[in-house]
Amino acid sequence: MANPTTIDGLEHYISQCLASNEPHMPPTGRILHWIMQTYAMDRYIELERKHLEGRYELKDNQDYNEKFFNLEFWLNNKVKLAMMLGFVRAQTGNILDLGAGAGHFMLVARCLGYGVHGLDIPDPVFDDLTDFFNLSRTIHRIRAFEPLPDFGVKFDFVTAFYTSFHVSEAKALWGEEEWDYFLSDLATNVLTEHGKLYMVLNRHHHTIGGLQYASGEAKRYFEARGASFHQNNGVVKFEDMSRFRR
Ligand SMILES: C[S@@+](CC[C@H](N)C(=O)[O-])C[C@H]1O[C@@H](n2cnc3c(N)ncnc32)[C@H](O)[C@@H]1O
Repeated sequence: MANPTTIDGLEHYISQCLASNEPHMPPTGRILHWIMQTYAMDRYIELERKHLEGRYELKDNQDYNEKFFNLEFWLNNKVKLAMMLGFVRAQTGNILDLGAGAGHFMLVARCLGYGVHGLDIPDPVFDDLTDFFNLSRTIHRIRAFEPLPDFGVKFDFVTAFYTSFHVSEAKALWGEEEWDYFLSDLATNVLTEHGKLYMVLNRHHHTIGGLQYASGEAKRYFEARGASFHQNNGVVKFEDMSRFRR
């Protein structure tokens, strides 16, 4: 069972990461070290206590956003994604992360040197964690056939990990028309001329209609529009969004 976060525990994890031969572990250790140098981690521990006192088991429960207090696990998860997508220290650019959650990907990207901005709907865990890490966000609910807000700046990358904005409150999945509108809005209003879109689609079960992941419909749709789609892990990569510009 996950334990409360402690400074000793984080330092121990960093030393395990740095000694590991697995490619994503040393970068995770270095990023966690940077976080411990940059943020007051005793305040992080207080924040965790505020949300989890008496119910630390929620850190292990996939159904609760409190799981995102498991800093080691989620940083590692996002370091793997960042490496898989080619985000590296030498590159530059700014990133808009849709459905940013607790901000772990934004933290990794910031540590690598990218500019980062998030977008999400309000949530007590996400609001407190992104405030703690001083991550800038726009609070906004993405809806089918509605444009994203004007951010006052264009982004080199839009990312969206374990997406759920494409599922309505009635559990209906977006279909081709909803995605076409969204891609066109991103290309026209949000991304720079050579901007890229990287997403990881969530495997939503019990949804109705739309482009289902398991049946291969989502894969067929994204590939027909020029993206690569990985059926095993749901990674969608658009390296060129210019064809969607209005
Ligand atoms: C499964 S969580 C993933 C969080 C984060 N991307 C990560 O990988 O750790 C899905 C995220 O999408 C956000 N979300 C869900 N519906 C949304 C909507 N309609 N508009 C914007 N964000 C939404 C949730 O609040 C949450 O942050």
